[in-house]
Amino acid sequence: MVKLIDELEISRMSFEDLDGVIEVEKTAFPIPWPRRSFEEELRNMLACYFVAKLGERVVAYIGMWFVMDECHITNVAVHEDFRRQKIASRLIEKMLEECKEHGTSYIELEVREKNLAAQRLYESFGFQEECVRKDYYKNPDNTRESAIIMVRDFENR
Ligand SMILES: CC(C)(COP(=O)(O)OP(=O)(O)OC[C@H]1O[C@@H](n2cnc3c(N)ncnc32)[C@H](O)[C@@H]1OP(=O)(O)O)[C@@H](O)C(=O)NCCC(=O)NCCS
Repeated sequence: MVKLIDELEISRMSFEDLDGVIEVEKTAFPIPWPRRSFEEELRNMLACYFVAKLGERVVAYIGMWFVMDECHITNVAVHEDFRRQKIASRLIEKMLEECKEHGTSYIELEVREKNLAAQRLYESFGFQEECVRKDYYKNPDNTRESAIIMVRDFENR
């Protein structure tokens, strides 16, 4: 049987992908990024974004910035109908390949304290908790949530 993950195509995000990316974004975050933010990121020389598609449909994306020898993951999201099928894992593998090409020493990211799904995902790729940024995120109901800073080193650090 052909698995969904075998049909997945990963490519650089383009302006034509943004309708699909925004659909993913809406299912993934309580305060989704507006289209303008993605447009800015696509023009940002430091940023690198990939989409995962099934046929023409965007089902997930990942974004990162490369600054000196650091990679910072800005976001990763999978449409809610397509989770737990290793799509995010595939995107993280793609990011790790990109890091090798950039000669990256370490990757850093922030994740909500209560977002255990994402924390488990990152741990499965060797990320470790470095510190906590208290009340970093704002929720739609105006409450705050702390961020866990997670880091993964490469051998050349
Ligand atoms: C977090 C997210 C990206 C994971 O995407 P996904 O494609 O479902 O993840 P994968 O299938 O690659 O999961 C790989 C591993 O991560 C962990 N994981 C993923 N989702 C999990 C969940 N809901 N609960 C516990 N562990 C989870 C598991 O270890 C999983 O391996 P397993 O399925 O063999 O147990 C997805 O749930 C999502 O888009 N969430 C909303 C957006 C978000 O929180 N993004 C992260 C911002 S920091």
